[in-house]
Amino acid sequence: MTSYVVDPADRVAGEITVPGDKSVSHRAVMLGALAEGRTHVTGFLEGEDCLSTMEAVAHLGVHVEQPGPGEVIVDGVGLHGLRAPTATLDMGNAGTAMRLFMGLLSAQPFDSELTGDASLMRRPMERAAKPLRAMGARIDTHDGKPPVRIHGGQQLQGIRYEMPVASAQVKSAVLLAGLYAQGETTVVEPGVTRDHTERMLQSFGCEVRARDGVVTLAAPKSLQAASLRVPGDISSAAFFLVAACLGAREPFTIRAVGVNPTRTGILEMLALMGADLRLVNHRSFGSEPVADIEVRPSRLKGARIPERLVPLAIDEFPALFVAAACAEGETLVTGAAELRVKESDRIAAMARGFEVLGVQHEALADGMRIVGGNPFRGGTIDSRGDHRIAMAFAVASLRASAPITILDVDNVATSFPGFAELANSVGLNVGVRG
Ligand code: S3P
Repeated sequence: MTSYVVDPADRVAGEITVPGDKSVSHRAVMLGALAEGRTHVTGFLEGEDCLSTMEAVAHLGVHVEQPGPGEVIVDGVGLHGLRAPTATLDMGNAGTAMRLFMGLLSAQPFDSELTGDASLMRRPMERAAKPLRAMGARIDTHDGKPPVRIHGGQQLQGIRYEMPVASAQVKSAVLLAGLYAQGETTVVEPGVTRDHTERMLQSFGCEVRARDGVVTLAAPKSLQAASLRVPGDISSAAFFLVAACLGAREPFTIRAVGVNPTRTGILEMLALMGADLRLVNHRSFGSEPVADIEVRPSRLKGARIPERLVPLAIDEFPALFVAAACAEGETLVTGAAELRVKESDRIAAMARGFEVLGVQHEALADGMRIVGGNPFRGGTIDSRGDHRIAMAFAVASLRASAPITILDVDNVATSFPGFAELANSVGLNVGVRG
């Protein structure tokens, strides 16, 4: 099991790019598989999560190739060309892969089974299974959790589904099943969630209507292959945004970051805390907006985080909590109970880490109160196998007075291969052990 030993650092400098967006990379391979023709993807995230999706698609009879770094070619088999897998499909750590495949596989003529690593086996799958069953799918979960068994050969019907939790994964699972359903499929969102599936379906020629949180599609005759360029992942950039707020003496730039407005909650939250962030060089990679983000030296102060921002930054709270621990005064996050069912219980994992470091905080059922700005110590923290917990505490080394040892960091490779090297290139001191 690998650990980080992170020595204190006090400044960061540089101009970096971060690996490709995880959400977009999963969807590029899945939709490419269902399209007619050859889909080219560049900037693909070669993290373990997205490689699980690639492998699963290959097990379903689709030819995929990686001709160069970040490049993927998918030879689509068409909406009705997938073949029965010869084995259980292993999603590794990837909740997105599992829930999206549930939608996709529910509509196939064959049976399939989805499994994952220890963390994924603890995560709730009924939230996706329920609406899919309402469409006519036959899905078994194990007490609501994986393994998930999907009985194929069902004709799905379109539904109007009002999601009880704001989840892009559930929305996407229903929309992917909707590609095969009779009649229209509509998802009503209780709050804004990332819309990469809708945008990418349009890039593949499928008409999707989205207005005021109501998303509708009708089964298309076919999807057409596309050329896709994946933006840098703002969820990975978040660690460096916070690091730069804490340690930059001059403008620090992260290039080519996806700034889809359904993902930029972290920018708003940090701005509320006093961060000086500037988006420059706006452009698009296909249907996804992209910009360079400049961070200027910032003095962070605590803030009340508006609940409406929670789904727009759901993966960024470990980084945000570290920003709050270093900010002057109190930060309050509520309305974020979802954090308890991510790759780990992120409220519990961050609270335990703060206890070790001596950061004043109170864990809430749906968030955390953090009183920041006081010096904190080092110590040994268990990441609980959660990539984002590991990376967040590496950034905390910019304020710690002694080394922070972070246990069980192998899963950083699920979303951010090369994190330690990149962090060290800008001034952090991340030693990799074991
Ligand atoms: C994702 C949606 C979010 C997010 C996850 C990726 C996606 O999950 O936390 O990392 O790609 O659709 P929920 O849909 O559960 O909110």
